[in-house]
Amino acid sequence: MNERERQLIASVQQRIEKMRNQVQRDPYRLHYHLMPPVGLLNDPNGFVQFHGEFHIFYQWNPFETTHGAKFWGHYVSADFVAWKEQPIALAPAEDYERNGCYSGSAVEHLGKLYLFYTGNVKKGTKRETYQCLAVSEDGIHFEKKGPVIDLPEGFTAHFRDPKVWKRGNTWYMVIGAQDKQEQGCVVMYSSADLYNWKYEKILVGSMRNGLGEFGYMWECPDLFSINGEEVLIFSPQGIEPKGTYYQNVFQSGYVLGNLDYEQLQFEHGAFAELDRGFDFYAPQTTEDNQGRRILVAWMGITDEQEQLQPTIKNGWVHALTIPREIQLRGNKIYQQPVQELKKLRGHEVAYAGITINHETKTFAGISGAALELVIDNMETHEVEEFSITCRNHVEIVYRKEQHHLTLRRRTFDNQKWEERVCAIDNLRKLQIFLDVSSIEIFVNDGEEVFTARFFPDPKIRRLFLRIREVFLLIYKNGLCKQAEEMNKLHG
Ligand code: FRU
Repeated sequence: MNERERQLIASVQQRIEKMRNQVQRDPYRLHYHLMPPVGLLNDPNGFVQFHGEFHIFYQWNPFETTHGAKFWGHYVSADFVAWKEQPIALAPAEDYERNGCYSGSAVEHLGKLYLFYTGNVKKGTKRETYQCLAVSEDGIHFEKKGPVIDLPEGFTAHFRDPKVWKRGNTWYMVIGAQDKQEQGCVVMYSSADLYNWKYEKILVGSMRNGLGEFGYMWECPDLFSINGEEVLIFSPQGIEPKGTYYQNVFQSGYVLGNLDYEQLQFEHGAFAELDRGFDFYAPQTTEDNQGRRILVAWMGITDEQEQLQPTIKNGWVHALTIPREIQLRGNKIYQQPVQELKKLRGHEVAYAGITINHETKTFAGISGAALELVIDNMETHEVEEFSITCRNHVEIVYRKEQHHLTLRRRTFDNQKWEERVCAIDNLRKLQIFLDVSSIEIFVNDGEEVFTARFFPDPKIRRLFLRIREVFLLIYKNGLCKQAEEMNKLHG
């Protein structure tokens, strides 16, 4: 560790100490999501299972609640429920990463953990970018090996976020990029040893592979196979809203197809969004030792409301989503909360065969800030219209005739309602994770997901339901128990 790194880490520790109480007392602190101990969190990075445990790193500006020279923060868990905060994994101490250790990924090789990330350098209005490597024996302390890839010809310096995987004896890497025509794309490299990388080609891009015009920059690519097909996840920037699609400032989604590894030719279908809510960006996946493909995303986005979040006055902003197992059914990715999260369930409240006819109801036991709500068997009861109002700040409305599910929330400054709409043919089931200031709604076992932050009056904890004949099941308190544990870990 060089002197600059030592100083940086020491000043982060001071900052955490100074802000700890204020951050922990913030009424919008989440109970079972990963957050920064102080400052701003964005993308999940280096998501990997290493020696049996799950490691999640994250983009982190510990000093401010704006974007800046990012560090890699680090959490580890055996079960996605109890997380332990680890020492800073990467601090932007070297010249080739002076303005941030930007996003990247992790792979295990012969018992060691390899992190690939982007060294971001700004010189006046100019930007430099290096794809860098850091290696660890214990998964906690990393030795920087420096840049392994310089910017190739034909691209602007918006060239970042390496994601690495192995197939046969070859390592592959995808990188998010912008070509000289200012079109977003994904570039592919290969390597035999993780140190020497060969530029292969532009795999997919805007104005390529029949996609048409599709954004000026693609961030955070991730390529993997599932059921014998390849999925390429990426976060394109510069896509115009279209009907109910692409409503957020930037998108995150995937294309599905077949990658011919001989020719490195990727034939794929249309782009589909992964989430239909307000706050979801830069997802990253890993495969665990049971063969599950698990996804985590940043539960935030750099939109015009980002800096209006009320947590900022207490020195922190943003969180990661809960981990979700993804599956391919037909041509569509389904997302479901990893089953380990059932451990969070505590006291259960169940209602069966409820009929509410043109009225609004609350139910005993169905209230609180951190809970999981399951509403099932909806198709058998001919639900025509249904809505849930959560803590007076979020509303979920389903209108069967229009085949629409709508998520409404109050904006962060003037409390006006804004909405996201998604077509749902037949609403059968809602599984909702509420966590103080976040909501994740899994529709029909993950056919669609809506993710959003919201900031209700902490005193209002009630949920109102307007429904006809549904079955309700709610789990609570367990989450609050977990909250104490999480606070201790963070403290
Ligand atoms: C996505 C992103 C990445 C970049 C990182 C910087 O949110 O812009 O492309 O590596 O954030 O924090």
